[in-house]
Amino acid sequence: MLIAQISDTHILAESSHRPEAGPRAEDLRRCIADINCLDPAPDLVIHTGDTVQTGAPADYAHLRKLLAPLRMPVYLAPGNRDDRANFRAAFEPAAADGIFLQYTVEEFPVRLVALDSIDPAHNQGVYCADRQRWLDACLSAAPGRPTILFIHHPPFDVGQHYIDGYRDPADRAALAAIVARHRQVRRLLCGHCHRSSQRIWADTQATTMPSVARDLREGIDAQRLAGTPLYQLHALTAR
Ligand SMILES: [Fe+2]
Repeated sequence: MLIAQISDTHILAESSHRPEAGPRAEDLRRCIADINCLDPAPDLVIHTGDTVQTGAPADYAHLRKLLAPLRMPVYLAPGNRDDRANFRAAFEPAAADGIFLQYTVEEFPVRLVALDSIDPAHNQGVYCADRQRWLDACLSAAPGRPTILFIHHPPFDVGQHYIDGYRDPADRAALAAIVARHRQVRRLLCGHCHRSSQRIWADTQATTMPSVARDLREGIDAQRLAGTPLYQLHALTAR
């Protein structure tokens, strides 16, 4: 099974006059055109959040239009730039668990679990007791199925983006404890820090990836790579 990951597209409304609006849309268009041509084709695409810049409905309308040419399904997790209500309105029914945008995707050989690490008042992540209970129950329900988790905020420090990570270190410790208990978790895919990294975390492989948006990429020669579509491919087996 092959998964293409995109992240931190920070799309603005089609009518926006901000100078970064056009290049960001073009960056996502190029990513999608490239992913559509891959052979073998990915089974699906995951977006790890900060899908739009302001959270306004017009941002989401533009994002939907840009994603429409994808030949495979796309599943999104929210980032600190996303607005839960407008995200839900744009992508229903892919995202729903009460107030949190946490959900599972069951129709592939590998089970997908989208996690919601946002707190509308802050850029840093949170993973509160309600979300922890949901994830523990979710993973307890299918211990035999290989599983990928995807979340915006990495529960470990990468660079200095927004002074790293989570407002309360106890949140990331709790998340790590849950994941370590459930041995079927194969990967944790993250966004937020706008740069590439990988590590073993809670006995699973955890990765972050650069921003699709060229003006926000960290840790690479952003000028030289401007115009290059950036996404990550993750190959998994169901055993
Ligand atoms: Fe971002």
